[in-house]
Amino acid sequence: MKDGDIELLIEIAKFEDSHDMEKEFKIGWSWRHVRIWPATLSRLFKEGYLDNVFRSNSYTGYKLSELGITLVESKQAEAEPEAKAPMQIVISEDLFSDIIGHDEVKELLTACLLAEKPVHVLLAGPPALAKTLFLWDIERLAGEQAIWLVGSAVSKAGLWDVVVERQPQFLLIDELDKMNAADTAALLSMMEGGRLVRAKKGRELNLSNPLKVVAASNRLQMLSPELRSRFAIRKLTTYSRSDYLTVVRGVLISRENLDHELANEIAHALDGLSQDVRDAVRVARLASQLGVGKAIKLLGIGGDR
Ligand SMILES: Nc1ncnc2c1ncn2[C@@H]1O[C@H](COP(=O)(O)OP(=O)(O)OP(=O)(O)O)[C@@H](O)[C@H]1O
Ligand SMILES: [Mg+2]
Repeated sequence: MKDGDIELLIEIAKFEDSHDMEKEFKIGWSWRHVRIWPATLSRLFKEGYLDNVFRSNSYTGYKLSELGITLVESKQAEAEPEAKAPMQIVISEDLFSDIIGHDEVKELLTACLLAEKPVHVLLAGPPALAKTLFLWDIERLAGEQAIWLVGSAVSKAGLWDVVVERQPQFLLIDELDKMNAADTAALLSMMEGGRLVRAKKGRELNLSNPLKVVAASNRLQMLSPELRSRFAIRKLTTYSRSDYLTVVRGVLISRENLDHELANEIAHALDGLSQDVRDAVRVARLASQLGVGKAIKLLGIGGDR
């Protein structure tokens, strides 16, 4: 085999892949179709990489031989990214420390992160319950080992290609209910195990480290039964009044840098009026200009939404 022959065989394989050989080239393709000199094709045939399907005075028809196909496939397999050895995640003390409460969810997610084999978790529930914060914290912990996706925005490259290229341990999907059909189909097979079949080329890829998926969604009704079945679904419910007070105080102090007194005042002013932490954040941001009471009134909190 000469230098450059393998590239020729790959070109030929591409040509064969893009045509229906049975219908269009029953007697094989000729040098004109693949734009390779007859003498070169004749040599590749003699070396066993091509089969000669048809021969007449005016037409010599070839197709790739078994040997040729095997060679091309092994070359393409080499080009696939190597399976990466899984890196053990070390859970740090402060993982989830910015999230107030939700103790059971923290415990569940920690166990799932450490588990040898995947247990996929879906956090489901109404807005502003720290679902996205959970995904962020896991991303911060896992770094390169995690891929973060927002369902509504996945797929420029397609979920499949992103996962094959980066081979993450964790897939973090926010707004799972908004993911498109193609990516959802890819996700279904990825969640089932390490053996992935790429439909397009009919080839398989073994991901040595099975993916762990953590996702968030407001609505469950939008998800297909088979997708729901692949997740441990952890439903988060709207905060009780006392939890709301605690969360609001914590968020306003640690994230919005309010002093204890003002944080307390806002939390109590909203008690019974709202269950949405984002309301408290908005009030906090306007309170220095408007005062707490007026901010609540102008923002229309407690009225019909
Ligand atoms: N338990 C909590 N601890 C800390 N911050 C919280 C908590 N609950 C809500 N928040 C705050 O509420 C805001 C919304 O949180 P997040 O974006 O995680 O909500 P979500 O559940 O993903 O909501 P959505 O369904 O609307 O996307 C953030 O500013 C976050 O800091
Ligand atoms: Mg969110």
